Amino acid sequence: MPEVEVGPAGELPPGSMKMVALGDLEVGVYNCGGELFALEDRCSHDDGPLCEGAWDTDRCVVVCPRHGSEFDLRTGRPRTLPAYLPVRTFAVRVVDGTVFVDLTQ
Ligand code: FES
Repeated sequence: MPEVEVGPAGELPPGSMKMVALGDLEVGVYNCGGELFALEDRCSHDDGPLCEGAWDTDRCVVVCPRHGSEFDLRTGRPRTLPAYLPVRTFAVRVVDGTVFVDLTQ
């Protein structure tokens, strides 16, 4: 899969997130404290809509809205049960002020 344009970096300030989609793959792109992370919008526990959940901007953690597992935005690894497998993460980069997410991983 290709690299997908997320939008201008100025529209994704710290504490914000934006969804991007390519075919069936939906990804949440987060700005946590100035660092950009991308996480698949599908919980590893029971396919919950992970990126619809709340997230903690201090700990860079997303909470699955279905059963409450917390996932680390940096690694995609769960921090709490019931999920025990990681979710997919993707590389994010900024080129000339535009954010791109690499969906090839
Ligand atoms: S679907 Fe996410 S914790 Fe169950």
